[in-house]
Amino acid sequence: MLYKDEDYAELDEQYIAHTYKRFPVTLLSGKGATAYDVEGKSYIDFGSGIGVNSFGYCNNNWIYAVTEQLRKIQHTSNLYTTIPDVQLARRLCEVTGYSRVFFGNSGAEANECAIKISRKYGVEKRGESCTNIITFRNSFHGRTITTLEATGQDVFHKDFFPFTNGFRYVPVGDKEALINAVDDTVCGIMIELVQGEGGVITVDKDFVKFVENICKEKDIIFIIDEVQTGVGRTGTFLASEQFDVKPNITTLAKGLGGGLPIGAILMDDVVKDVFTYGDHGSTFGGNPVVCAGALAVLGELFDNKYLERVSEKADYIREKLLEIPQVKDVSGLGMMIGIKLDDSFTAGEVAGKCVENGLLILTAKDKLRMLPPLNITQEEIDKGIRVLKKSLFELEYKVKLSF
Ligand SMILES: Cc1ncc(COP(=O)(O)O)c(C=O)c1O
Repeated sequence: MLYKDEDYAELDEQYIAHTYKRFPVTLLSGKGATAYDVEGKSYIDFGSGIGVNSFGYCNNNWIYAVTEQLRKIQHTSNLYTTIPDVQLARRLCEVTGYSRVFFGNSGAEANECAIKISRKYGVEKRGESCTNIITFRNSFHGRTITTLEATGQDVFHKDFFPFTNGFRYVPVGDKEALINAVDDTVCGIMIELVQGEGGVITVDKDFVKFVENICKEKDIIFIIDEVQTGVGRTGTFLASEQFDVKPNITTLAKGLGGGLPIGAILMDDVVKDVFTYGDHGSTFGGNPVVCAGALAVLGELFDNKYLERVSEKADYIREKLLEIPQVKDVSGLGMMIGIKLDDSFTAGEVAGKCVENGLLILTAKDKLRMLPPLNITQEEIDKGIRVLKKSLFELEYKVKLSF
């Protein structure tokens, strides 16, 4: 049995594929917004495992739901119905007004599924050339060959050719470019409402409405990728509620599972019958244990009224961040927070210093990024902000503080 971070780092280096640049920490356990490493050091978690642990580490209701289900039946395949997956689908439809759900295992898969639905719809409506999808510059939609191409950032379009054809990119907010990109061959438009990986940039509400109107006018499937913004993260269950739009398809993942892998594709009446038997599938999609966990996440959000408190907490965090002298701007929506720092710091070095001082915090492009658990306490917020302040001070003055 090994107990030191360095030992696990060595195993990691030797046996894990070199695709992740990891911080020198091996996490062992956690409760709420506090994680502990193998040496017993504690960390305030402002990242939620990149927006996944909606109710932090080891939320009691979530553990109960998952372990109860584990004891009943862990997997059946999609040849049979299970109770948690139909209950979750019904609950999702009830809280969002959608009509039907397909369950997968990740955000990229959810977006792939949305792309498949749009293409089948387009081909059936306007013939075989109607397969193009419009996405937006600086977006992020996943890492499969198709969703990499859907991602509107050139940096992702390398090394893995040939990518899937049929994507057009439009700068966010550019109505004219959007009009020019739309023709009879476009079957879908996919957008994030807050570009998370792209630097926590909130899209203009008027532009989102414009996209919806074009989709309605031209009979194009409107897809909102809420993989990161969904499930209460921005203060409403779906961020689209704050933009007064209702896309034909919303994709969810990350926070829905509360820590277990899930993707969900919410379909409205326009698209709910596009897929017929055999069109799509997933071995693990709708897994009963995962769905039981997701039901517990929805229970915490709605029955235990956490959703009502997300915006309040987010406002408090923003206020505290803006008091820090090295913070130049705070972006995003609700508990999806981007922090623009003074140019003398890089987000990466600050995140590294924070880890050293006991705070897990994310980056997105040149910003620090926070996706705290939705149930983070005031005490945990204050403690995390204190560590951030201390880390910025230490970097600026090249000192080590003793508290
Ligand atoms: C908006 C958005 N879409 C899709 C994805 C891909 O999700 P996954 O990593 O679960 O495939 C992400 C992941 O960061 C995301 O932020």
